[in-house]
Amino acid sequence: MKTAEIAQRYLDYFEKNGHTIVPSASLVSDDPSIMFTIAGMVPFIPHFTGVVPAPHPRIADVQKCIRTNDIEEVGKTARHGTFFQMMGNWSFGDYFKEGAITHAWTLLTTPEADGGLGFAPEDLWVTVYETDDEAAELWQRIAGIPPERIQRMGREDNYWHTGQPGPAGPCSEIYYDRGPAYGQDGGPAVDDNRFLEIWNLVFMQERVADVRSKVDFDIVGPLPEKNIDTGFGLERVAFIKQGVENMYETDQVRPVLDRASELSGRAYGADADDDVRFRVIADHVRSSLMLLSDGVTPSNEGRGYILRRLMRRAIRSMRLLGVEGPTFPELFAASRDVMKVTYPQIIEDWDRISTYAFAEEETFLRTLSSGSAILDEAVLAAKGTGRDTLAGDRAFLLHDTYGFPIDLTMEIAEEAGLGVDRDAFDGLMAAQRKRAKEDARSRKSRIADLSVYSAFRAQGETLFTGYDDLATESSVLGLLVDGQAAQSATEGQVAEIILAQTALYAESGGQVADKGTIVGPGYELEVLDVQRPVSGLISHTVEVTRGEVGVGQPATTVVDESNRRAAQQAHSATHLVHAALRDTLGSGATQAGSLNRAGYLRFDFTWGQALSGETKSEIEEIANNAVRSGLEVSTRVMSLDEAKAAGAMALFGEKYGDTVRMVDIGGPWSRELCGGTHVSTSSEIGLISLTGESSVGASNRRVEALVGQDAFRELTAERALVSELTASLKTPKDKLAERVAELAANLKSAEKRIAQYEAKALQQRVPEIARSATRAGRLLLVAESVGEVQSADDVRTLATQVRERLAPEPVVVALAGVVSGRPIVVVATTPEAREAGAQAGSFVKIASQTLGGGGGGKPDLAQGGGSDASAVPAALDAVRSAVEAL
Ligand code: ALA
Repeated sequence: MKTAEIAQRYLDYFEKNGHTIVPSASLVSDDPSIMFTIAGMVPFIPHFTGVVPAPHPRIADVQKCIRTNDIEEVGKTARHGTFFQMMGNWSFGDYFKEGAITHAWTLLTTPEADGGLGFAPEDLWVTVYETDDEAAELWQRIAGIPPERIQRMGREDNYWHTGQPGPAGPCSEIYYDRGPAYGQDGGPAVDDNRFLEIWNLVFMQERVADVRSKVDFDIVGPLPEKNIDTGFGLERVAFIKQGVENMYETDQVRPVLDRASELSGRAYGADADDDVRFRVIADHVRSSLMLLSDGVTPSNEGRGYILRRLMRRAIRSMRLLGVEGPTFPELFAASRDVMKVTYPQIIEDWDRISTYAFAEEETFLRTLSSGSAILDEAVLAAKGTGRDTLAGDRAFLLHDTYGFPIDLTMEIAEEAGLGVDRDAFDGLMAAQRKRAKEDARSRKSRIADLSVYSAFRAQGETLFTGYDDLATESSVLGLLVDGQAAQSATEGQVAEIILAQTALYAESGGQVADKGTIVGPGYELEVLDVQRPVSGLISHTVEVTRGEVGVGQPATTVVDESNRRAAQQAHSATHLVHAALRDTLGSGATQAGSLNRAGYLRFDFTWGQALSGETKSEIEEIANNAVRSGLEVSTRVMSLDEAKAAGAMALFGEKYGDTVRMVDIGGPWSRELCGGTHVSTSSEIGLISLTGESSVGASNRRVEALVGQDAFRELTAERALVSELTASLKTPKDKLAERVAELAANLKSAEKRIAQYEAKALQQRVPEIARSATRAGRLLLVAESVGEVQSADDVRTLATQVRERLAPEPVVVALAGVVSGRPIVVVATTPEAREAGAQAGSFVKIASQTLGGGGGGKPDLAQGGGSDASAVPAALDAVRSAVEAL
């Protein structure tokens, strides 16, 4: 049975049993405390906690999940995959233990011919939480499972929470017995390889907090309702149903593994180490594909880092299979071709996905070769000093800065006959992990504060009226002072205020928050920021500029009109620039981020190379043509599916089932899903002036532009500059560039002539300086001050030329000069002087000390200096004494 068919049977069963089927949410979790959707229940957390009412009492879905905490186990066991799909049925205050058990048992044991999954009852075992007599009794009564196949386990196995404060509950798990070939008898309590967990039923009924570990946490109270959360592992069922050994060999994963085998010319199943590599590749390529498809892009932190790590591990494994060149074009295509059946957006988005994936591989392959150069140097350094290990800090640098995996460093070091100082490396890694943990902890404590908003959110969504109105009357629902709920705030205080409705735009979709005021009886507030701390809730950060504001009072939000108008000019301009980019570069140039505020826009997009001047002009021209054409801007609210069918470019983070807002400028030419505020016809934008184009990261570019009045001002400032130049250079505008080039060329040749003249002047001083040589002990000595010179090079030139003139006498030439107020000393010696023991370096040291500085060099020529120019005579005297003393 194909993976997709298992999923379909699951959904069909639950739809028949009163569940509303919803599509998978994004892998990128909405919840800021959870990086990825790690379980099917993550998108439903707000419904379990009662913060947001559930849209239906019964829901079922197949949810994309990512877990990377066991990444090292991937490929070694049958069941660890970083990407997997969790089938889940949810009851929000509807059925509970009895319903969940009945449904699971029925679907599992109904014969395949009747639409079920056809598991034999005697192959199934269950576990229940240690004190859950009720569940144990239900399993016997409903499923007829004998008591000896119902095992009780503690918190470690049979209590479920996400690892964060939130909904939780005891659970009951269903296991499949793979048979005696896979381990000893005795049920899941004895062997979790032979007995494979396939379905987890969580009786979601309480809240946990202060989660210190899987088993160490506080249960702080009941949830508003008793709920059901289940997780049925699609990959696990698939590998059981397909009669293969592990999830990597199922129909959705195996094609990548086979492709890797073809590319490497090595067979799967021939070598245990190679097999692990094949499985790592198959798993990681698929996970990376799915993450990219959900809008994650490779980077050095957070989600992007996890994605990068997955891709690099896959590349590394291909290398260990003996393939050095790029393989992602083949491997990603293999994964795409199986995954597209369930996730057609992979095809729609293939340009963008593949651009990122292939660029990441190219970059890492380059890294591997430049890192190899650094590693070679470190190897030479270790050998040069007679050590047999590579320094730990080198290995760490390679890991941290170049993304060089430690096992690769070890392998290359080993080829050179060296070990790696693992203790030092591990110490540095541990220190880094500690920093990361502290960072995460401080982030978590900030996130925990979000719970204060939940109570407000539970009262309903904040209505945003600002698409149509710039002033809206409302009332104060809540106040927060220092993050705590408060009844009032007084003059001078900064507070957060939550209203029933607001005309003030909260920062999102790249558009900054509105400026404005909130006024009411006896008070006035200046708006500092507007945000949506939890989905559906708008919070205004304000300073009380007059009077006192209290909960329950009337409040009128007033938008700063000219700021808003300029911000929406910039936002609409961003859409035009985006459309113009796609016109010019094709659909591979997809949005990677944007910012727009009054007068300015910034737009990041995927593109591998710098844009030529011509391309930039073309984009600017297309966008400004659209401005001049007075295109109508229209917005419509519709379902996500409708918007996609209309060809709108989707933003990431949009949840299926949501209604979305589609913004058209000039019909489908510029069609985006966007919650921002916009002009009503494009001509209101006035003008777009591209001011910059630069790179952000490996495969992203950024264009920046000034918009409207600001663009106009910038152009007039440039015009003023040009007329200033035409006046001062007495050249007409069209000859200006020519004139400046001419001036620069003249200047260059004048500088050259001056340098020649100076060199000549310097040379003319040589005979006179040479004549000042006097005897000093056994040697001849020139110790002269040459006065102010252009550079230290002049002093050097003089010293070596004087030495040449006096050779082959045993002579020491010590010259001091002053460059921009600072004394310089240069000493040159002839071979004959050195034979008599003269060392230029040591004389320079003596002179520099007197000058209040330092210096050194070789026995034949050395240079030094200091800070005290008045000490030059004393410094030369000191050299004289030293020479005499030889
Ligand atoms: N939330 C439960 C799990 O992920 C079903 O195992």
